[in-house]
Amino acid sequence: AAGDADAGKKLFVKCQACHSLADGKRKVGPSLYNLFNRKAGSFPGFNHSDDMAAAGDTIDPWDADHFRQYIVDPNGYIGSVIGKDKARTKMTFPGLKNEKEAEDILAYLQPFFEG
Ligand code: HEM
Repeated sequence: AAGDADAGKKLFVKCQACHSLADGKRKVGPSLYNLFNRKAGSFPGFNHSDDMAAAGDTIDPWDADHFRQYIVDPNGYIGSVIGKDKARTKMTFPGLKNEKEAEDILAYLQPFFEG
């Protein structure tokens, strides 16, 4: 079932200290605007972790399926992509609770991700 964008907007409160949805604007983390048109770990001028940059060579570019897996277990998912048990990304946020939350936040963020 498609996610609930209103619920997703509320979940995004957990992200917005670190992520802007404005084009090119970094905070603690990279802007999430236009995410689906770039490789993981390739935000211009951002000092990404080696693990996130390495993942970008495999999951080029971000898409809905990769995002759903990432956001419920960021270091576990990036680790699985690069052949490690757990990655060491710079995202200290542990992820959302479950697939329902992932679907809801995706419903809210998809238009921004598409740029
Ligand atoms: C990276 C999403 C919460 C800090 C990322 C990336 C995504 C993402 C998709 C990959 C970006 C790219 O490859 O260009 C989210 C979402 C969040 C969230 C949807 C909330 C549910 C947070 C929070 C923080 C944070 C709360 C800060 C405490 C970072 C940092 C990176 C990152 C520093 C870069 C990681 C690296 O290069 O190793 N996030 N994030 N994020 N995020 Fe988040």
